[in-house]
Amino acid sequence: MRKVMLTGDRPTGKLHVGHYVGSLRRRVELQNTGDFDDIFIMIADAQALTDNADNPEKVRQNIIEVALDYLACGLDPEKSTILIQSQIPELCELSFYYMNLVTVSRLQRNPTVKSEIQMRNFEASIPVGFFTYPISQAADITAFKATVVPVGEDQMPMLEQTKEIVHKFNSVYGETLVEPKILLPENQACMRLPGTDGKAKMSKSLGNCIYLSEEPEEIKKKVFSMFTDPNHIRIEDPGSLEGNTVFTYLDAFCRPEYFPEFLPEYEDLDELKAHYQRGGLGDMKVKRFLNNVLQAELEPIRNRRKEFQKDIPAVYEMLRKGTEKAEKVAAETLRDVKAAMKINYFDDEELIRMQSAKYTEE
Ligand code: TRP
Repeated sequence: MRKVMLTGDRPTGKLHVGHYVGSLRRRVELQNTGDFDDIFIMIADAQALTDNADNPEKVRQNIIEVALDYLACGLDPEKSTILIQSQIPELCELSFYYMNLVTVSRLQRNPTVKSEIQMRNFEASIPVGFFTYPISQAADITAFKATVVPVGEDQMPMLEQTKEIVHKFNSVYGETLVEPKILLPENQACMRLPGTDGKAKMSKSLGNCIYLSEEPEEIKKKVFSMFTDPNHIRIEDPGSLEGNTVFTYLDAFCRPEYFPEFLPEYEDLDELKAHYQRGGLGDMKVKRFLNNVLQAELEPIRNRRKEFQKDIPAVYEMLRKGTEKAEKVAAETLRDVKAAMKINYFDDEELIRMQSAKYTEE
C-alpha cells in the first residue's frame, strides 16, 4: 500500500515551539526518511475561518508566516507538497457528502470541539461551519488518501471522526476511502508543551509563547522568567519536577550532546533532575542550561527563515505549485467518491443505456 503523510496547521499566527515539538519536528524527520510515497502539508485557512469569520485579514496575513516557518524548519517543497486548503474546492464537495454520514449528536460529543466552544464563548451561538469542522478535516485527510497523520493529542477526536466516516462510507458505498493512522508525539512533554507561565496552553493572547522566529534576546527573557517550582525558594531546598516548566521544556528539547557542550558537570537529564529533587541545584543554573539548549535549537531555524524571507514571491509561487499538485490528487479522490455514490451520471453509460431501454421498450 502507498504510504502518504498528511498534516496541517491553522494560519492564525506564527508557529511556536509547541507546534515544533508537537508535530513539525517529526514531520521533517519523516520527510527525510524518504519512506513516504507522498507528503502533503496543509495550511488550513478555511478551517481557521470557521472561528475567525469576521477576521479574514488575520488568516490572510498569516499564510506566509506559516509557510516561512515550515521552510525554516526544513520542510522541503521538493519532498513535501505544501498547499492552501481554501484553494481546493474538492475539499468542500467531499465535506458536503460526508455530512450525510455524521449525526449532530456525534459532533456534539467531540471533546476538542466541546472545549473549543467553551474557550471561544460560542455556547449560545456556534457557527455551523465551526461545529462541522471535524467533517471538513476528514475531507482534508481522505482527499489525499493519507495513511499517517502526525498531530498533537488534541487532534485525536478528529482522527476518530475521520475513521468513522471512512468506515461508514466504505460500508455504504463500497471500499473507496483509506483509513488514516494518527502519529502522536514521542513523549508527554511534546504532547502538551505548556506556555512559559506554566499554563496548559500556549497562546498569543496570554503572551506565553516562544515563537520559532523569536530573536535570541527574547528567548532568553522568556526562559529566565519561566514558571518553575514555587516552593523551591533557596538553592538547598528540594525541588519538584511536577508542573515545572523548565524541566518540561528540557524533556522536549534536550539532546544528550548538549551536556558536554553546556553543562559538562552532569552526565544527562536524569542526573540533573535527581540533583534538583534532592536540593542544592538552583533554578538559575537550570534556566541558563535551557536557554543554551533553546538557542542552539532555534538559531538554525531563525537563520533559515531569514533566507526565505528575502524572496517572498518565490514562497507564494511554491505554495501555488503545491496547491495545484494537491488539487489533482483531491480531484481524483472526488471522482472515486462520486462514482462510488453513483452520482457520476454523465460518465455512466450503463445508466444512460438502461434508462433509454426503459422507454424504447414501451
Ligand atoms: N485542526 C488542525 C489544528 O488545529 C489543523 C488541520 C486542519 C489538520 N486539517 C488537518 C491537521 C488535517 C491534520 C490533518 O492544528
